[in-house]
Amino acid sequence: MEIKAIKENYLKQKESVINSKEVNELRINFLGKKGIVNELMSKLKTLSSEEKIEFAKEVNLIKQFISEDIEQLMSDIKKRELNERLAKEAIDLTLPGRDYKSKNKHPLNLVIDEISEICIGMGYKVEEGPEVELDQFNFEMLNLPKDHPARDMQDTFYIDGRTLLRTHTSPVQARVMLKSEGKPIKIICPGKVYRRDDDPTHSHQFMQIEGLVIDENVTLADLKGTLAYIIRSLFGEKREIRFRNSYFPFTEPSVEVDVSCFNCDSKGCSLCKQTGWIEVLGAGMVHPNVLTMAGYDTNKYQGFAFGMGVDRIAMLKYGIDDIRHLYSNDLRFLNQFGGNK
Ligand code: DAH
Repeated sequence: MEIKAIKENYLKQKESVINSKEVNELRINFLGKKGIVNELMSKLKTLSSEEKIEFAKEVNLIKQFISEDIEQLMSDIKKRELNERLAKEAIDLTLPGRDYKSKNKHPLNLVIDEISEICIGMGYKVEEGPEVELDQFNFEMLNLPKDHPARDMQDTFYIDGRTLLRTHTSPVQARVMLKSEGKPIKIICPGKVYRRDDDPTHSHQFMQIEGLVIDENVTLADLKGTLAYIIRSLFGEKREIRFRNSYFPFTEPSVEVDVSCFNCDSKGCSLCKQTGWIEVLGAGMVHPNVLTMAGYDTNKYQGFAFGMGVDRIAMLKYGIDDIRHLYSNDLRFLNQFGGNK
């Protein structure tokens, strides 16, 4: 009698079960250690041995019935739940992908790519160095010892006493020289550099391309020929270049390089400040101290180096009047550079 009531009770409770969590609750309620079926077993003690056999048989039957039924119920509900989830999470494969609006290369990358291609054509390799640099490479190995006044020209972001955000790409020179162990070098290294500067023509982050050639019989004439070729490739065949005396601690002699104004053909305009010339880069013959510090025999090897500001070249080439346009991610600006899609 009791057993029949349990079965009815089970069938009734089962009706309201709607998910797998509730099936589990139902299972615990009836088949768990302290569940309704187990509780029946405690009754055994009170019965005679004949009654016990009959009763145990019935309990086993109801136990089997409930556990098989729950298994079936669970499998039905799980199937239903899975189908519901699949329906809800369905991926519509016919939806078109998202169209990325800007497909243009950034003007700074356009300039880097163009200069890299020109130099690779002359046999240069492209090298890179870290933006968080050691004082040792950013200054010392470039002939700028601790108390050198020329350090002040570069308003530096120091991280600690010996680490800083590199102020130029020149430290890659020292790194590549050490790595090359006294052998010839012909490299360019493009990359980001950092200084505490901020005005329409200076940004605290900007880009440079460094060049370094070390070999036997390298002269200032090689430097001039190389730079004339690069500059004419960038600004047009008709351009002239001019060297002016300058000073960099890591080169001797040092020069600043001007290009004849492509805006007015050197007649004088606001871009060249009526001089007919525009300054584009710094360069020179690698200082013997720099070569010696990096393990090069100065009796055998000489070198030239140059460093140009990519931002400045991009501004000149594309007529950009404010360096901040290059860093503000404004699509109205960026979309004007259609090249290299
Ligand atoms: N490192 C210099 C700067 O940031 C630029 C430079 C000048 C690099 C002359 C050179 C060089 O390699 O020879 O102002």
